[in-house]
Amino acid sequence: MTFKFPLSMLLLVLLLNIFLCSGEVLYLPVTKDASTLQYITQVSQRTPLIPIKLLVHLGGRSLWVDCDKGFKSSTYKPGVCNSTQCTYSNSNYCGDCILKPKLQPGCNNNSCYIWGENPLIDWFDDSAEIADDVLVFGSTPGVRVTWPRFIFACFVSPNMVRLLANGVTGIAGFGRESPISIPNQLALDPRFTKKFGICLSSSTTSRGVIFIGSGPYYVYNPKIDISSNILYTKLIANKNAFLVTQEYYIQVSSIKIAGQDIPLNKTLLSINKKDIDGGTRISTASPYTILHPSIYYAFKTAFINALPKNVALVESPMKQFGLCFSSKNIKSTNVGPAVPVIDIVLHKPSAFWRIYGTNSVVQVSKDVMCLAFVKQDEEREPSIVIGGHQLEENLLIFDLPGKKIGFSSSLKLQQTSCSQYDNTILR
Ligand SMILES: *[C@@H]1O[C@H](CO)[C@@H](O)[C@H](O)[C@H]1NC(C)=O
Ligand SMILES: *[C@@H]1O[C@H](CO)[C@@H](O)[C@H](O)[C@H]1NC(C)=O
Ligand SMILES: *[C@@H]1O[C@H](CO)[C@@H](O)[C@H](O)[C@H]1NC(C)=O
Repeated sequence: MTFKFPLSMLLLVLLLNIFLCSGEVLYLPVTKDASTLQYITQVSQRTPLIPIKLLVHLGGRSLWVDCDKGFKSSTYKPGVCNSTQCTYSNSNYCGDCILKPKLQPGCNNNSCYIWGENPLIDWFDDSAEIADDVLVFGSTPGVRVTWPRFIFACFVSPNMVRLLANGVTGIAGFGRESPISIPNQLALDPRFTKKFGICLSSSTTSRGVIFIGSGPYYVYNPKIDISSNILYTKLIANKNAFLVTQEYYIQVSSIKIAGQDIPLNKTLLSINKKDIDGGTRISTASPYTILHPSIYYAFKTAFINALPKNVALVESPMKQFGLCFSSKNIKSTNVGPAVPVIDIVLHKPSAFWRIYGTNSVVQVSKDVMCLAFVKQDEEREPSIVIGGHQLEENLLIFDLPGKKIGFSSSLKLQQTSCSQYDNTILR
C-alpha cells in the first residue's frame, strides 16, 4: 500500500513522457534562391551562435561547412582519431593536417576525415575533418532543438563551395544511410523518427519547409494534414558506387503524357548493375528534371503531340530548355497552365505521381512557356533525375525505416501550398 501512490505517480510521469516525446515535428524553413534556384535552409551553429545558410541536398552524407574562410567557435571539437565520433561517422582515414600551414578548424593533427560532396559540380572530396559543435535547428510552429555536440564535417578545400549561392557556406545532407546525415543523427533524440517530409515553395519570396519527425505535417488556413493522403513507393538503393549510396532512387516503370505511354527503352529505367548510372533519382540539387537523351526526345515528341493544335512552338529563349511554345492559347487552371498532364508510373500501373502544368512548364516571358524537363548532357548520370521544379508545392515523405517514399501530388489540388505551414503568421 505504501508504494501505491509513488508507483502511480511514476507511471503517470512515464506516460506523460511518452506522450510528450512522440509525434514531435521539427520545421526547417527552406528558401528558394532567386538567382540560382537553389533550395537553402538556415540553422545556427557555434559559440557564439551564428546563423549559417546551407544548400539542401537529399543525397548528402553529412552537414558540412566551409572552414577555409575562417571558422570561429569556442566549442569546436575535432574528431580525435579512433574516438566514438570517428567510428560513428564511418570516417575513411585518420591523420595530421597537411592542407594548411597552421592548425585550424578543418585541419588538425590526429583527427579523422570523411568524404563530402557538392552536387552542383558533382565533386567529391575525402578531406573533410569530422568535428562536433553546438547546432540549433527548427523554427515555429514546431520544436526548436539545441544540440550541444552535433557531428558535422569541416572543409578547408576552397573547391568545395563552388557554385553555392551567395551567402551559402555549406550543405545540409539528408542521406539515406549515413549515421551523421541530418535525419539519422536527429533521430538519436527520442522525440524524432527517421522520417521527414520535403515541401519546397515555388516562390522565392515565401518559404517552404522540411518537416522532420513522424508527423502529422500540418499546413494552415485551413488546417490540413498534408501527410494523410500519400501515395507510397519503395525506396531503391544504389549500391554500385559508395559515392551515390546516400541518394534516393525510385522505380519508375513508365511515363504517360495525356494518358498515353511514351515509348521508352525500359533498360534505362533500372539501375545499371555494373555501373552507377540508370534508374531514377530524386534530387533537390537540380532545378529541373533531367532526362536521358532517348527518354527526352520521346517525352518532347509526345508532349508536342498532346498540346492543343492552336499552340505555336517558338524558338527557346533560354539555352537550357529544349521546347518552348506560345502561351497565348493556353488556358489557366487551379493547377497551373492547361498543358498535357504527365504521369510518372511507379511500381504498378495504378500507382502514379501526376504532374500538372504548374510543375511541368515555366513561364519564361509574357507570351512564352517552356517545358521544365531538360535533356541530360553528361554521361554516367541516372536516366531520370527528378528536380526541384517538379517537387515544388508537392509533399514528399521519406520514410527511412519503412524504406519508402510518398508523393502527395500538387497541394494546389487541396487549395494550399508549402509556405502555409507557419500558423504563427497571420495572413
Ligand atoms: C587507431 O586504431 C587503429 C586500428 O584500428 C590503430 O592502428 C591506430 O594505431 C589507432 N590510432 C590511435 C591514435 O590510437
Ligand atoms: C602536426 O603534424 C605535423 C605533421 O605530422 C607536424 O609537423 C606538426 O608539428 C604537428 N603540429 C602540432 C602542433 O603538433
Ligand atoms: C537500351 O538501353 C541500354 C542501356 O543504355 C542499351 O544498352 C540498349 O542497347 C538499349 N536498347 C535499345 C533497343 O535501344
